[in-house]
Amino acid sequence: MNIEVRCAEPSDARAIAELHAASWRNTYRGVFSETYLDGDVQEERQRHWLQCLMLDPRQDQGVLVAMVEGELAGFICIYLDAEPGWGPLLDNLHVRSDCRGRGIGQCLIQAGIAWMRARGSFDRWYLWVVEANAPARRIYEHLGWAPGERTIHVAADGTEFAVLRYTQRLAEFCCKVEDRSVLPSPKPQSGSFSGKGPDAGPGLAAPGA
Ligand SMILES: CC(C)(COP(=O)(O)OP(=O)(O)OC[C@H]1O[C@@H](n2cnc3c(N)ncnc32)[C@H](O)[C@@H]1OP(=O)(O)O)[C@@H](O)C(=O)NCCC(=O)NCCS
Repeated sequence: MNIEVRCAEPSDARAIAELHAASWRNTYRGVFSETYLDGDVQEERQRHWLQCLMLDPRQDQGVLVAMVEGELAGFICIYLDAEPGWGPLLDNLHVRSDCRGRGIGQCLIQAGIAWMRARGSFDRWYLWVVEANAPARRIYEHLGWAPGERTIHVAADGTEFAVLRYTQRLAEFCCKVEDRSVLPSPKPQSGSFSGKGPDAGPGLAAPGA
């Protein structure tokens, strides 16, 4: 499987919003309200991504997309300056449900790290994960992320749920990846990576969100 990772363009906003809404629908049942998930989520994500990629992009924002056979298979969104003292924020990481478990999340994380490294020196980054999202927490912990503080988040639909802050030391992850010769060149805008599909040879070791 060939995975191409590149910076998102304004024209990607609609596809990202669709993938994001679908991923929320199948990940956050029982977290967000049914009314929201089955109703407004698609439109709300559409407005969000139009804002992020077209109308008012933040200067510190990095959105990278993973393309497989010309179709959007996943995306990652990073903010460099979200919260002083914590390093960059991994704000979103979603892979299309039919593409999960094939290394795409890993490729996006690696490309995200390369994107950050081209913009500064960061010794760690962080993310917030829904406490009830056990599959994602297992993956992050497998990849070397460590859980920390717990807080209550209020979603766009008004529902409240617990989230956990996870952090990861970037130096450790970079060494681990470099050992396996899979770190992409630190090109700021795009890169092409070989995924961990059936024809991609041995699996990558991991380092998230
Ligand atoms: C979380 C997510 C982005 C991961 O993407 P992915 O493409 O499925 O992940 P990968 O195939 O790259 O796997 C990443 C690593 O996690 C490991 N992993 C996968 N499932 C696992 C599990 N249940 N327990 C532990 N590790 C697991 C993989 O083996 C791999 O590690 P390895 O390279 O050492 O083998 C994806 O599953 C997803 O979109 N989930 C729904 C949305 C979500 O919860 N996003 C996170 C919000 S904070």
